[in-house]
Amino acid sequence: MATHAAATFEGPDPTVAELIAARPFLSMHAMDGLLLDDVPLNRVADEVGTPTWVYSAATMRARYGALATALADARLDAQVHYAVKANDHLAILRLFSREGAGADVVSGGELLRARAAGIPGSRIVFSGVGKSAHELRLALTEDLAQINVESAEELAMLSAIAAQMGRTARVALRVNPDVDAGTHAKLTTGRAQDKFGIAYTQAAALYAHAATLPGIRPIGLAVHIGSQILSVAPYRAAYARIAELVHALRADGLAVETVDCGGGLGIPYRGQPAPSPAALAGAIAGAFHNLNLRLALEPGRWLVGPAGLLLASVILVKQTEAGRFVVLDAAMNDLIRPAMYDAWHGIVPVSAAEAVGEASPADVVGPVCEPGDSFARGRLLPNLGANSRVAILDAGAYGSVMSSAYNARPLAAEVMIDRGDIAVIRARQPVDALWAHEHIPTFLE
Ligand code: LLP
Repeated sequence: MATHAAATFEGPDPTVAELIAARPFLSMHAMDGLLLDDVPLNRVADEVGTPTWVYSAATMRARYGALATALADARLDAQVHYAVKANDHLAILRLFSREGAGADVVSGGELLRARAAGIPGSRIVFSGVGKSAHELRLALTEDLAQINVESAEELAMLSAIAAQMGRTARVALRVNPDVDAGTHAKLTTGRAQDKFGIAYTQAAALYAHAATLPGIRPIGLAVHIGSQILSVAPYRAAYARIAELVHALRADGLAVETVDCGGGLGIPYRGQPAPSPAALAGAIAGAFHNLNLRLALEPGRWLVGPAGLLLASVILVKQTEAGRFVVLDAAMNDLIRPAMYDAWHGIVPVSAAEAVGEASPADVVGPVCEPGDSFARGRLLPNLGANSRVAILDAGAYGSVMSSAYNARPLAAEVMIDRGDIAVIRARQPVDALWAHEHIPTFLE
């Protein structure tokens, strides 16, 4: 296996001023406090309450544009399929689709969401290690651009279903290149021991077999080695192996039209060095230029992560012998990334006066009854009091989509800001919605 050490980042935490300066859509106004695209987050909190997810539409568009430009500059014929799992809100799907994106979906639910947002099947690819017969039927009914098949077993199942329906599935084989993406252990997908993809050594034979199966037209290969990847080296290693396979398949007389280069491009949550889209485009071009391939990408986090934040209020600040605990009205049920991946998210006070106050270490936690319900430990923060507000940054990806109603905490509201408009794109969930589909059986009446 090719290994690439995690880009460990040992620098000090960025200051509040540095966090704001690195995010052009944020600014601090002396009276109004923290602004997102010139809209005071205090106004959002007054109107919609907290906790609330707040997204910058302009930032999403700008990021899509930057990625598309990088691909064009590298002269790549590449279609972006936004990875719906990162944030599947209909408004966000619609926004990216209007910019020209297709969608990468991993379930029947995501497929139907993408369709509900107006994305045609011809711009949808279906990934995932275990698609049910029902989901494969749905994919064929919607005539998706491509189904990324991850095993011989799935290929056989798809062939039987497609033949029975009288349809032909355009199939890419997702290959496991046995490359370590150097990211968090829970975010790596391209090592041989991971559950994803078809073993590199078996891919060529399976591709040839696919070409003989009824209802299957093999059109290419797909690869995705992980998420929050902060170096292009593992991409280069993986793409080199895929390019080798393209050559081998073609040498055997098999047609390979397309390569899906996956997603995974990381973002600098903590100000650490992160590869640019141009660097990723360079890695793709390095492996695939001259091969006359249609290329696809499946980015999620890079497009949407930095464009969203979680706006929360301080319930109380608790001082113990061990230190200071800032208890928010947001919790791990809203944003689980710190608990699940030890993720670091910037935390910025919304009040200008507080933001410049003298900082000392604090643990920032939620009210959920678990020690893991923590957003930050020993974070340098100014004095905050009850009713202070904070923004938890870079929460646009894998934020609201991973929320639960644990501790009977309803799902938070979602707001999109565009050119001064504050649009509530998801109302705060009413608490009785939590038991709306529950029934007390007659024997308990
Ligand atoms: N394509 C496939 C096949 C994937 O499995 C994924 C992500 C993507 C594309 C998009 O990856 P991205 O560009 O967003 O890195 N919940 C975790 C992230 C899990 C990613 C799973 N797969 C987190 O909060 O960091």
